Amino acid sequence: MSRIAYVNGRYRPHRDALVHIEDRGYQFSDGVYEVCEVSGGRLVDERRHMERLQRSLAELHIRLPMTLRALSVVLHETIRRNRVDWGIVYLQITRGVARRDHAFPAPEVTPSLVVTARALSKTRNEALAAKGIAVVSVPDNRWARVDIKTVGLLPNVLARQTAVEQGARDAWFVDRDGRVTEGASTNAWIVTKAGTVVTRPAADHAILRGITRMVLFDAINAKGLALEERAFTLAEAYAAREAFVTAASQIVLPVVAIDGRPIGGGKPGPIASALRREFHRYAEAG
Ligand code: PDD
Repeated sequence: MSRIAYVNGRYRPHRDALVHIEDRGYQFSDGVYEVCEVSGGRLVDERRHMERLQRSLAELHIRLPMTLRALSVVLHETIRRNRVDWGIVYLQITRGVARRDHAFPAPEVTPSLVVTARALSKTRNEALAAKGIAVVSVPDNRWARVDIKTVGLLPNVLARQTAVEQGARDAWFVDRDGRVTEGASTNAWIVTKAGTVVTRPAADHAILRGITRMVLFDAINAKGLALEERAFTLAEAYAAREAFVTAASQIVLPVVAIDGRPIGGGKPGPIASALRREFHRYAEAG
């Protein structure tokens, strides 16, 4: 089946879906994005993703090119036209098309909106979760506002490539104090020997406020697990009982090795696996 993309007001065959060469997303990474899980053909946690989108846009003074209600229609229509049962929907909003100049276009131009949807293999994802993934650590060399979900992802791209070249699946960014910030496209978590679930706080702008992360807080609290929002060091991660990552496209993926050192005996841990199983009880399906 041929894929369909939404580009600035039109549904186009994927291969013909084009944006202008002077789109500021293309020239300056001057735009933001969201990735939402689609499950059973329904959007997961649309409300939270739209809240984060609005925040990212506000931080960059980009306006939403249509109402949230209209955007929701486009998201659902793109999912429907691509017949996605399980997979992801991707949306990107840039400041628009204008002659290249670093300052914002004046007068303002209409922001560009692109939406795509893609089916993923549930079987493959479940197999990955059953096996667990390896991660490698890399220095966090990103800018100071990674809480804004911008399309400027070059450090993340290079980090993931480093991981791939070392036979790993994800990279964990480590700050100057030796503390893990997050994964290249995931939030990072550990479970200590005492059984406490630990992840970095989002308050200092050093991580993306992951939607999966927020939903997981509810799941962790409901299970009566101890939870600490604090930075943890790489050394602490090496010694952890379990480790895992979260993202909308992956839900919860157990980590079984960090920098070649086995975590939890090199097998997915029970807490990560249980949280993965129970995640959708706490997520909102639209
Ligand atoms: N990535 N941290 C970073 C740097 C991310 O890029 C992502 C998501 C997350 C997890 O956020 P959420 O739970 O809202 O998906 C954390 C998306 C999936 C991506 O870039 O493909």
